[in-house]
Amino acid sequence: MHLSVIQFETLYNDKAKNLKKISDYINDINSEILVFPELATSGYYYTDRKVLKTIAEESDSSTIKHLQKLSTSLNKIIVFGFPELFENRIYNSAAIIFPNPELSTTYRKTHLFYKERFVFEEGDTGFTVIEYNGLRLGTMICYDWRFPEAARSLALDGADLIVCPSNLVTGVWQNVMSSRALENKVYMAVANKIGIESNNGDILEFNGESAIYSYDGSYLAKASNNCEEVITAEIYPKKTRDKSFNEINDIFKDRRPQFYK
Ligand code: ACM
Repeated sequence: MHLSVIQFETLYNDKAKNLKKISDYINDINSEILVFPELATSGYYYTDRKVLKTIAEESDSSTIKHLQKLSTSLNKIIVFGFPELFENRIYNSAAIIFPNPELSTTYRKTHLFYKERFVFEEGDTGFTVIEYNGLRLGTMICYDWRFPEAARSLALDGADLIVCPSNLVTGVWQNVMSSRALENKVYMAVANKIGIESNNGDILEFNGESAIYSYDGSYLAKASNNCEEVITAEIYPKKTRDKSFNEINDIFKDRRPQFYK
């Protein structure tokens, strides 16, 4: 099973161009799983809710329906971030689209970063794992990485692969993502964006380095810090399921949750 992560410069407040780019990548890349960055349809740095609302969309919007059709016809799992409008609230969400539309769903970012708090609601979906075609897929978004509970919850629920659409702005996450993969024995895929966005003189720089990590924490593929590019790796979901690492220790069976907060 092949997994591709698409690192690109999302254009600010230009859904049509971002969507064209996303659709072209879906048509061109020959992998069963495609992961795009956080807020891939809209760009990231919004501080005015009224502006964000003009580009936010419901989870059954024409955009999502279009990508669902592509997913079904090409038999690909597609994950991408978008601003989700729901009953006058806006969530920083990921659409998780499976060829079988009944499985398709939305994850709403649990932990909001920086000025996201001005425009988004805190996510209320929690973390879920969905199985399709022998793959158990879990999703978190960007800043969720700072909370080991996010990846751990998904792993305890059986995820083989955790995808993480991102718009990362620091240089501290790389080793931690690798640890999340190792400590949970799961594959991890981080789709970051590149480029710069500014808002009232406040500048955010997105430094790419999108990555696919194996379940031992090693890199299977890694992107540059400034180019639009696609990275791909082959994954074997079932290999993540035996959580032992020698004849005595098993990272899940050895847990002592009664001593954890
Ligand atoms: C982030 O959560 N976009 C850093």
